Amino acid sequence: MDKFYIKGGAKLDGEIEVYSAKNSVLALLAASILTDEKVVIHSCPKIGDVYSMIKILQYLGCKVEWQGDSIVIDSSQADKHDIPLQYGQEIRSSIFMLGSILARFKKAKAVFPGGCDIGLRPIDLHLKGLRELNVVVQEQGANIFCNGENARGKKIHLDFPSVGATENIMLASVLIKGKTTICNAAKEPEIVCLQDMLNKMGAKVSGAGTGMIEIEGVKKLSGTEFVPISDRIVAGTYIIAAAMTKGKVHIKNCRPNDLYSLTSKLNGVACDVLASDNDLLVKGYDRPQSVLTVETLPYPGFPTDLQAQMLALQTISQGTSVVVENIFETRFKHVGELIKMGAQIVVKDRYAIVRGVQKLYGCQVSAYDLRGGASLVLAGLVADGTTVVNNVRHIDRGYFQLEEALSSLGGCIKRV
Ligand code: EPZ
Repeated sequence: MDKFYIKGGAKLDGEIEVYSAKNSVLALLAASILTDEKVVIHSCPKIGDVYSMIKILQYLGCKVEWQGDSIVIDSSQADKHDIPLQYGQEIRSSIFMLGSILARFKKAKAVFPGGCDIGLRPIDLHLKGLRELNVVVQEQGANIFCNGENARGKKIHLDFPSVGATENIMLASVLIKGKTTICNAAKEPEIVCLQDMLNKMGAKVSGAGTGMIEIEGVKKLSGTEFVPISDRIVAGTYIIAAAMTKGKVHIKNCRPNDLYSLTSKLNGVACDVLASDNDLLVKGYDRPQSVLTVETLPYPGFPTDLQAQMLALQTISQGTSVVVENIFETRFKHVGELIKMGAQIVVKDRYAIVRGVQKLYGCQVSAYDLRGGASLVLAGLVADGTTVVNNVRHIDRGYFQLEEALSSLGGCIKRV
């Protein structure tokens, strides 16, 4: 079980390039089974969730191989339509496969994906959407059986702009007769990225990034090559790391507009942020001021996936901050670990009140989930002494060699 040893105090300095977004690549891998022609997805991170998704595709009969950092998928021999328990419960994004398997094979079997440490993670919106498309969905225990023989396009309203449910319905409807409209759709950049690849494959999808997505079903999709968008959450993690360590970091191949909800809060308060088309230059302040309130919301609101990292910054900022986690029920597991390091935080339901302290102190802490683990690494970079972060397998699910990236910027961190 790998750990990170981090010696605090170094100011990050240098430049770093951001790779493709985990939450794009996972959806694009699900989409690759919609065609029996070759699909190539470039600049993919070699991270846990991507490997898990590849295992599912290979189980279904797809040939999948890495060529450098590109993933080449040939689904021509795919002949299974079920996602077995061990894979389905390994990663949440296995549920996206439901829509694409249904579209390809007109039937599918999946399992309720495991909830993880951030919340219940229900899939009622996914199943409601599929039923609206006239898919027969039967829930038997942990199993979900779907029959899409008579599926057809429909106007669907999502009670919540769920990212996964939006993607699942998009994937399920690109190959069925008629027009599907998703109202109150998620607007995340990863949804636009999925639309772009589907259209490159011959689909007719429009409106992604707005609350209203329209899909005209087509008969067939062709193979394609595609470069996903860069990872806004990884980029946001680097921005916060630069601010926390009072460093100066040039972040390349990022999309500043995707991160405006973060940079607009930090610029002039915790750091200076200079943005160009695909780059950001972040210069940290000697004493960052607290950001009074941070509320996680669906895009373009502040991303829940940066809540833990932002909270870590607030622990050493001057003043008091209120962090509200509106998206997931239990996404404060990192708070107890930060308190061990000397942070002053009170949690009440979805609210965390953070009073900034001058100093954090290195100690043994444990990651309980992906982004919470990242927040502990950031805290370790500024803490007095050495911090040991246990269970880094959680971090490896969503960050490619985070310790290498931070070391390349002068951070004293190593994996043991
Ligand atoms: C995606 O998860 C991301 N994962 C998450 O990133 C991200 O935090 C989340 O979107 C929100 O942006 C991937 O893309 C693989 P949701 P998803 O459906 O699709 C409720 C990370 O760290 N909900 O938008 O599961 C749900 O309980 C991960 O990279 C229902 O109630 O998120 C939650 O409260 C973590 N019923 C809210 O919606 C449903 O059927 C947001 O969930 C579906 C969701």
